[in-house]
Amino acid sequence: MSINDIPVIAIDGPSASGKGTVAQRVAVELGFHYLDSGALYRLVALSAMRMEIDFEDELALSDIATRLDVIFEDAGIRLGNEDVTDAIRAEACSNAASRIAAYPRVRAALLERQRAFQQFPGLVADGRDMGSVVFPDAALKIFLTASAETRAQRRYKQLMEKGIDANIATLLQDIRERDARDSSRSVAPLQQGAGASLLDTTSLDIGQAVDGVLRRYAEICAKKCL
Ligand code: DC
Repeated sequence: MSINDIPVIAIDGPSASGKGTVAQRVAVELGFHYLDSGALYRLVALSAMRMEIDFEDELALSDIATRLDVIFEDAGIRLGNEDVTDAIRAEACSNAASRIAAYPRVRAALLERQRAFQQFPGLVADGRDMGSVVFPDAALKIFLTASAETRAQRRYKQLMEKGIDANIATLLQDIRERDARDSSRSVAPLQQGAGASLLDTTSLDIGQAVDGVLRRYAEICAKKCL
């Protein structure tokens, strides 16, 4: 079996759209591997912040991306010996990740690392450029989104549940700024690519969104068997 026979479901979309949760559940349902590509950008951002690297220094940032000593475990994400599962989710890290993700060298440095996740029996990959750049031959490409207001409310609820204080107006502003930055960059911008199927979850719960992806994948598998 060649690598091209291993199916990939690419789920791209904006911040706080719920794509991470949906992608993970789809992976569990199908028994597939899961790639959280945003975590890689967050890990580079966290390392750079800790090393006090200048965020204008693309070379130094891409060097960090190349050397990233990361292990994805079921229970969380380890950077070296440290569990950084929560640290990479902090708002400061989200904003820094969005900034460094605009650098072509950083993106190039993370490319092969992401492709290495394509392993038997299949992969569900979530991010911004999974279907357009990293896995252009993905069996199924989904663009999963929701209105900015809905995403801000979901993020607010998540933070409250974790006991983290938050302001919904600030979250909405952050989401809009990040969307603008992720969509307007010249390399691999956030957009619904050719061949991607739109899944708007504004009025869907997680279960319905997961079913939406699984149904589309089942349709593709059925067509292949015809
Ligand atoms: O999905 P996320 O919120 O964890 O992603 C963090 C940042 O990384 C986000 O601002 C955009 C960037 N990103 C990217 O540019 N390409 C990806 N494939 C994944 C994330």
